[in-house]
Amino acid sequence: MSDFIIETKNLTKQYGEQKSVASLNIHVKQGRIYGLLGRNGAGKTTAMKMLLNLTRPTSGEVQIFGKSIQGNEKKILPRIGSLIEAPGFIRT
Ligand SMILES: Nc1ncnc2c1ncn2[C@@H]1O[C@H](COP(=O)(O)OP(=O)(O)OP(=O)(O)O)[C@@H](O)[C@H]1O
Ligand SMILES: [Mg+2]
Repeated sequence: MSDFIIETKNLTKQYGEQKSVASLNIHVKQGRIYGLLGRNGAGKTTAMKMLLNLTRPTSGEVQIFGKSIQGNEKKILPRIGSLIEAPGFIRT
């Protein structure tokens, strides 16, 4: 199994003529805090949406816990949490 809990392979999203995310390769190990920094429109939100398969990549792949998110959503999504661009509060 992969060393990484989040891994992307040449992850790309194209809207029309414009590439919003171009060949993104990230590798996140368990227990790490990982930040995406970039100016407005850099593609951070689009990348996060693809990590959850809320929007499909034009090309490339997302692996979570060593498995492709596409086709494994039912196994993977119950094990993770996400807030994208919404104020939130989670009580644990
Ligand atoms: N549904 C969509 N249809 C067309 N273009 C989109 C769509 N979503 C995002 N884009 C475009 O993709 C690019 C990346 O947008 P995204 O929202 O991922 O950037 P961001 O890094 O999250 O920006 P911000 O810092 O403003 O939140 C922008 O040019 C945006 O206009
Ligand atoms: Mg954003």
